[in-house]
Amino acid sequence: MRVFRARVFTPIADPFTTDSAKSYTYYDDGFLAIDGDRIVGIGDWREVPRQSSSLTQLGRDIVIAPGFVDTHLHAPQLEMIGSYGGDLLEWLNRYTFPTEAKFRDPAHAAMVARVFFDELLRNGTLCALIFSTIHEEATDIFFAEAERRGFRAIIGKTMMDRNAPDSLLESPRDSYEQSRALLQKWHKRGLLRYAITPRFAPTSTPELLEAAGQLKREFPDAYVHTHISENRNEVQWVHDLFPEAEYADVYDRYGLLGERTVLAHGVYLSEEELELLARRGSRIAHCPNSNLFLGSGLFRLHHTLEAGVAVGLGTDIGAGTTPSMFTTMADAYKVQQVQGISLSPFQLWYLATLGGARALSLGDECGSLEPEKSADFVMLDLKSTPLVALRSERASSVEDLLAGLIFTGDDRVVRECWIGGQMVASRS
Ligand code: GUN
Ligand code: ZN
Repeated sequence: MRVFRARVFTPIADPFTTDSAKSYTYYDDGFLAIDGDRIVGIGDWREVPRQSSSLTQLGRDIVIAPGFVDTHLHAPQLEMIGSYGGDLLEWLNRYTFPTEAKFRDPAHAAMVARVFFDELLRNGTLCALIFSTIHEEATDIFFAEAERRGFRAIIGKTMMDRNAPDSLLESPRDSYEQSRALLQKWHKRGLLRYAITPRFAPTSTPELLEAAGQLKREFPDAYVHTHISENRNEVQWVHDLFPEAEYADVYDRYGLLGERTVLAHGVYLSEEELELLARRGSRIAHCPNSNLFLGSGLFRLHHTLEAGVAVGLGTDIGAGTTPSMFTTMADAYKVQQVQGISLSPFQLWYLATLGGARALSLGDECGSLEPEKSADFVMLDLKSTPLVALRSERASSVEDLLAGLIFTGDDRVVRECWIGGQMVASRS
């Protein structure tokens, strides 16, 4: 057994439905005990088990907390962050498709994969749902890099067969076969999972969606990862391409909505669509930074949650401009503020950790520090920058401490990352 002594914070319940005081635990002088890859204890230091164990004294300037969960991002888009001007559809054509075409070259994919997982770990993200490109080999490379790092990832080969440059199109059959081969190789291998990943309805023919649905029927515990209702012009385009149905119905018709379906954005969903998603148990990845960057619109968080749809937070790199879940929490706060709603630090931190893990159906495994879960955690350094130190010293409560970290924290705060009881990244 291994014991860490520090401040310890973890969400334990949903603060949108539970009294906020009961939604977390915090120990000013606490411990986290791990054994192998599991958490075996968490509590006040005075109650630390006296068994023989190795003890690491971290002191009061370190907060041990669960790792962040990024429920939607695109690995190949890391290099195009900040490609400015235009809304979603213009941005896709002008920047995104040319960037993704470069991943035909495995050496390029390998270089970006290394930087990508470096960035996630540097920022304390220990679990993520990730888009690759249409390229089978590049997708294989992203999986292999995640495995090499001991990272907990759900990844999928993007499926597309219309409305993009020829170099990014494939036949539904090739898309099916390559996705199937990757799924069989990587799904449930260690910490890795496979997501069947049609990009979105506009780049899919009915035949491609049928192929995706066929895969989901063959492998019901695989994930489905796509986009929905991010932008008004996109929604209109889907109505033109699939006139007989609403956006969510298009996916539903091909059997793509289930509990392991994660749909990015959902800014413009109708009441009927929200009801359908709730019935199917499908999840939304809210990406506030991306929605602001592309000017997509303002997500109605409470409305979505109250409809019974689970929500996680995503950076949506590269329409999102940062891998930081601190900034993503801060932007989620601001997106609700301009709609007259103030999210609490507990609500924001929940969305970035346990809420995200639950949105990815991984809530029994990660997202919070609780006995029997995987030992996935970060060490946050309250003295990491002069501003973080100043803000943390004056924090009047744990709530205020978290608020300060959300708005002043960045990658410098993240001192160490552990996944499954292994240290996977360290600043020192
Ligand atoms: N919709 C379809 N593809 C994309 C993408 O790459 N990024 C975002 N933000 N939305 C999309
Ligand atoms: Zn996206």
